[in-house]
Amino acid sequence: MIPSRLLVIGAGRMAEAIVSGLKSTNEPFFSAITIANRSDRQRLDKLASTYKVEITRNWKESMSSFDVVLLAAPPDAHDNLFSELSSCMNGQLVITVAAGIDPSTMEAHLPAGTPVCWMMPNTAALVGKSMTTFACGKNVIQSHRHVIEQILSAVGEYEELSEDQVHDLTAITGSAPAFLYLYSEALEEAAVNYGVTSEQAQRLVTKMIAGSASMLETGTSAETLRNQVTTPGGSTAAGVEVLEKHNMKNILKEAVKATNQHARGK
Ligand SMILES: NC(=O)c1ccc[n+]([C@@H]2O[C@H](COP(=O)([O-])OP(=O)(O)OC[C@H]3O[C@@H](n4cnc5c(N)ncnc54)[C@H](OP(=O)(O)O)[C@@H]3O)[C@@H](O)[C@H]2O)c1
Repeated sequence: MIPSRLLVIGAGRMAEAIVSGLKSTNEPFFSAITIANRSDRQRLDKLASTYKVEITRNWKESMSSFDVVLLAAPPDAHDNLFSELSSCMNGQLVITVAAGIDPSTMEAHLPAGTPVCWMMPNTAALVGKSMTTFACGKNVIQSHRHVIEQILSAVGEYEELSEDQVHDLTAITGSAPAFLYLYSEALEEAAVNYGVTSEQAQRLVTKMIAGSASMLETGTSAETLRNQVTTPGGSTAAGVEVLEKHNMKNILKEAVKATNQHARGK
């Protein structure tokens, strides 16, 4: 295996999730990991001591010592980062995890021929359970894919999609966790109304959701599982009927649509 040296620009929660995942494997793939940010020195020192990584402020001067650049800075920092990178890079694979910064955008701003990849992890990356979608640019070859998969698997599961699909499906993998948390809040509030503490309510709802997710992971469809729980004419059916009367499926589809319209600036 050819040693790969990784530069991570941005040292926030997502950078930490990825570095933590990469460092937790028995056989680390990257021979060296270096992290950079603009201003927060204490943050860099903390990451260096926790994960035994290198830190730098002057990544432009040492660009030739990196094979892969991972951008984990906010989307609006990318224009500047692309011009800084363009002035010093020489063929590195460039990956971003920033919302909205797709491979076409990256290719338009980086030197011709640059291999690029756009990854959209979700918040569960922080616990190694992201469902990440990703799309590659036209200069990505097999050896780059190997590197890309190492990074993706550091934070959970992944699925390769077209650039347009990553834009549209971010509403499902990236935003829908917020929809699920809202659903949890509602059930917790309902549970508290029956006299349990909020801690008890949170445990009941969390374990119910985790158990249901495990059932879905067996591969049985959501519809089959729903029917198994819902005896016709029974009490669960009475509850489902209320959700259907208020067209819950449609509400969720509308929420996905609104998310995508906003993301695309419509
Ligand atoms: N957190 C998530 O669940 C999640 C999910 C999917 C995608 N993402 C994406 O991941 C990226 C980072 O998110 P985050 O949650 O990790 O944010 P965060 O915790 O706020 O961290 C952002 C980091 O970027 C650094 N930074 C900002 N501007 C910079 C620049 N011009 N050059 C170098 N470093 C810069 C900041 O440090 P300084 O200010 O010191 O430079 C900070 O270390 C974003 O693009 C976001 O869209 C996050």
